[in-house]
Amino acid sequence: MKSSASPTPSEPLADAAIRIDSHLDGAEERSLADDVLDGLTRPFKELPPKHFYDARGAELFDRICELPEYYPTRAERAILEAEAQNIAALTGAVELVELGSGTAAKTRVLLDALHAAGTLQRYIPVDVTESMVRDSAEELASEYPGLRVHGVIGDFERHLDRVPQADGPRIVAFLGGTIGNFPPGSRRRFLRKIARLLGPDDYLLMGTDLVKDPRVLEAAYDDAEGVTAEFNRNVLRVLNRELQADFDPGDFDHVALFDPQHEWIEMRLRARREHTTVVRGLDLAVHFDVGEELRTEISAKFTPERLEGDLAAAGLELARWLTDPEGLFALTLSQIRTG
Ligand code: SAH
Ligand code: AVI
Repeated sequence: MKSSASPTPSEPLADAAIRIDSHLDGAEERSLADDVLDGLTRPFKELPPKHFYDARGAELFDRICELPEYYPTRAERAILEAEAQNIAALTGAVELVELGSGTAAKTRVLLDALHAAGTLQRYIPVDVTESMVRDSAEELASEYPGLRVHGVIGDFERHLDRVPQADGPRIVAFLGGTIGNFPPGSRRRFLRKIARLLGPDDYLLMGTDLVKDPRVLEAAYDDAEGVTAEFNRNVLRVLNRELQADFDPGDFDHVALFDPQHEWIEMRLRARREHTTVVRGLDLAVHFDVGEELRTEISAKFTPERLEGDLAAAGLELARWLTDPEGLFALTLSQIRTG
């Protein structure tokens, strides 16, 4: 097996099983800097969740997926295990594009079914965490003989146009409920961009967490072991390293609460004392009052109506709605609307 890997898009070797294109460059650092400058100078401070995921953040997220309180990963896996064969038969997909692929742990259930159906040719993981794309590409190319893996290291909000052209019917997967991390308007904008990746024979396979008892939701985002709290504070470590900030993560409490009006979980960091932090890379002093909160993530929970509204706004229509036996999570297949 040969592997081509370079910091910029590279031509593949003719017989390479793995190709990796990286689109993370100076623009990515500027995007962090601009996001932080915007977010920390707002009257209500906020940071986008994509900056959680450095190598440590990605590891913490993996630990979250194993927690007893964090049901979405298990529920989505259960749906995939029950339905992967049907999904393979319905789609006849020769390739799988996966946005925010992470370790691609659950993806293997789908790859197994597509492999068994004899259609699978190529897997295209897209993720901002470089180590995740490189490691999963190596692992999957050796686990599935004959599979070509074309990894795209980049920001799925900026680099969807770098996803290679389809070689046949394909599934674009967006698993884990990550669509819920977009606020409602951006969510529809992003779904519209995804729709542009789909041809008439292609399917969007998307995982969405469902509205349920707020106590179950809040426990999932505030586990007893404190792993989610560490994941939340990790964004401060990212700012310390990348922008020479001097946050003490111990100055902030982890907060997770369900907003019943918007039906989303909010994660926040609440200052334990009044203090001023300097972000040297931005020449910025940021003041926190005691109890002041910095919002770090929303995680929207869906009803079928909300999802269908969002899909319709993006020119998509629902083909299959699949849930686990407890109705905790939904996996949906959608296509571009015709007529
Ligand atoms: N799909 C996996 C991982 C979900 S965690 C699962 O279902 O378990 C969210 C993933 O999206 C992380 O791997 C993170 O690195 C990636 N991610 C978050 N924001 C991103 C962005 N803007 N562009 C690309 N990847 C992103
Ligand atoms: C990646 N995303 C769907 C996770 C979620 O549930 O919103 C991230 C996460 N945040 C806290 N725990 C997990």
